[in-house]
Amino acid sequence: MTQDELKQAVAQAAVDYVAEHAPTGSVIGVGTGSTANFFIDALARLKDRYPNAVASSEATRKRLEGHGFSVLDLNDVGAMPVYVDGADEIDGGLNMIKGGGGALTREKIVAAVADTFVCIADASKEVATLGRFPLPVEVIPMARAHVARELARLGGQPALREGFVTDNGNLILDVHGLAISDPKTLESHINQIPGVVTNGLFALRPANVLLLGTAQGVRRKGGAQ
Ligand code: A5P
Repeated sequence: MTQDELKQAVAQAAVDYVAEHAPTGSVIGVGTGSTANFFIDALARLKDRYPNAVASSEATRKRLEGHGFSVLDLNDVGAMPVYVDGADEIDGGLNMIKGGGGALTREKIVAAVADTFVCIADASKEVATLGRFPLPVEVIPMARAHVARELARLGGQPALREGFVTDNGNLILDVHGLAISDPKTLESHINQIPGVVTNGLFALRPANVLLLGTAQGVRRKGGAQ
């Protein structure tokens, strides 16, 4: 199977998960990236049952609206049973690195509201230790150099994502060379640096369910079996 076919398979598995666990009319939280795009396209077949969604990026909002979903302001949403999103890396504890597409802050906010985070990924994203994928850190522009110095003190090599501005008007530093043995502590530590908006570690609030696309089929980890 190609990587896109694996992504399509996990996207369909996520729609099946939503159909089984989210009551009709629930607001569905939707992530960002190529795997999330396959999920949006598959969810469109259930649009009559789930017409309302919250988007984690402008790109996702546009794709959802293109399918005819109503995209709600998160501030108007009191409950969200499921959030579905991809990841750049995921480990055995369902801790993730996210933000390869630069949407990490909104992704983390929407995920915080959801009861269940369903991560959809092809098998290439599964790792023993997080950190081979450069860790994205969203920073307020005036703090870029300060935050970069602090990240270097932690042992990483930060690189500005050239020509990229987030949906929130900020910059991204991609931090190379981190072997992340304690993702929760590192997530908290980086969040304390003045000027950091958020970082791409999702360990304090990891995924609850992983749907992993493999050549042998979709493997599920976490959640009630
Ligand atoms: C977007 O900012 C990211 O967090 C994505 O969820 C992540 O990069 C996965 O993207 P793909 O599904 O395109 O690999």
